[in-house]
Amino acid sequence: MSLLSSALKRINPSATIAISNKARELKASGRDIIALSAGEPDFDTPENIKEAAIAAIRRGETKYTAVDGMPELKAAICRKFKRENGLDYKPSQVTVGTGGKQVLFNALVATVDAGDEVLIPTPFWVSYPDIVQFCGGTPVSVPTTIEDNFKLRPETLEAAITPKTKWLIFNSPSNPSGAAYSFDELKALTDVLLRHPQVWILTDDMYEHLVYDDFKFVTPAQVEPKLYDRTLTMNGVSKAYCMTGWRIGYAAGPEALIKAMGTLQSQSTSNPSSIAQWAALEALDGPQDFIAENNKSFKERRDLVVSMLNQAKGLQCPKPEGAFYVFPSCAGTIGKKTETGQVIATDEDFAGALLEAEGVAVVHGSAFGLGPAFRISYATSTKDLEEACRRIQRFCGSLT
Ligand SMILES: Cc1ncc(COP(=O)(O)O)c(C=O)c1O
Repeated sequence: MSLLSSALKRINPSATIAISNKARELKASGRDIIALSAGEPDFDTPENIKEAAIAAIRRGETKYTAVDGMPELKAAICRKFKRENGLDYKPSQVTVGTGGKQVLFNALVATVDAGDEVLIPTPFWVSYPDIVQFCGGTPVSVPTTIEDNFKLRPETLEAAITPKTKWLIFNSPSNPSGAAYSFDELKALTDVLLRHPQVWILTDDMYEHLVYDDFKFVTPAQVEPKLYDRTLTMNGVSKAYCMTGWRIGYAAGPEALIKAMGTLQSQSTSNPSSIAQWAALEALDGPQDFIAENNKSFKERRDLVVSMLNQAKGLQCPKPEGAFYVFPSCAGTIGKKTETGQVIATDEDFAGALLEAEGVAVVHGSAFGLGPAFRISYATSTKDLEEACRRIQRFCGSLT
């Protein structure tokens, strides 16, 4: 009898975490490595948020809280949705988990049965298909193209929907492409969804605040209020508030779904850390001006990276609206040879050979369901980004 369950056998370790670990190991062994693989801001958590956590510890807020989030934080989340998204949610429609990842996991485990199809536009965040597979559901990749800046077309969405479709997972700004949908672009998709009442919308708004050049973020339930009753709007403090290690994510949606997610959490992790919840409350209610400051740096870095990558032979890099990723195509390098004679047959070969030759860690696009391409996280210093892009240019130039 096999030790591992059939559910576990359906999933793989996260490719992004695996590559970040490999880069860390190489660095520890003394190699000069620039890792552009991690999906987290290089900025520290703001002081007021840290102080709120310290104050919570001193007040003795160190006990269990309500399983799916303490009332004070749920109230702050309701205020956030009203203030920033024009969405009305009651605290009973809000759930808080240990990071956005747990919230997504809860939502899918609570709703997906064997045979259910979940639409996932490509390129996608690596965890979506694996969580769906863990549940026994069928992830259905819905393709986008670099010509469309990796944004889903309404007719492609329409063609992918079947009677078995349970969810569309929507992520804007996107990890890994950085693509973000304008009101009109999103409206074209919600118009399609209106025609298919069996489809629920799981919108992952994790990168909401990380948008540049006056881009205006919108979320499905705001763009089409008629979808409110079948939309789960998910968000978290990890990225914009530089709190990846604190592990707080949240979502709002129909009460029955929220309750089911809470039941699942009550039998797995129980409440997220009480201290991190107090910190998240300060993040949502406290000053927001540091976000614009950080975004100024992110925008400069994005512009630098896009410009330098477009000067590398065989690469093509669109300029995305948000997040801190770019997703260049490396189609022009496929079939070429490295100086050591290795043929670049896939984007995984490209990423592996780049790490070997120049010590730059990137994540291959096929891990995100769309290749040949790769993802660069530009949430690192300008100095490292410049050097990494120089090395990528040199590597691409050396291929014959
Ligand atoms: C698109 C997207 N959704 C969700 C998450 C999960 O966030 P958290 O760290 O809060 O679990 C991430 C983190 O990388 C992400 O990129």
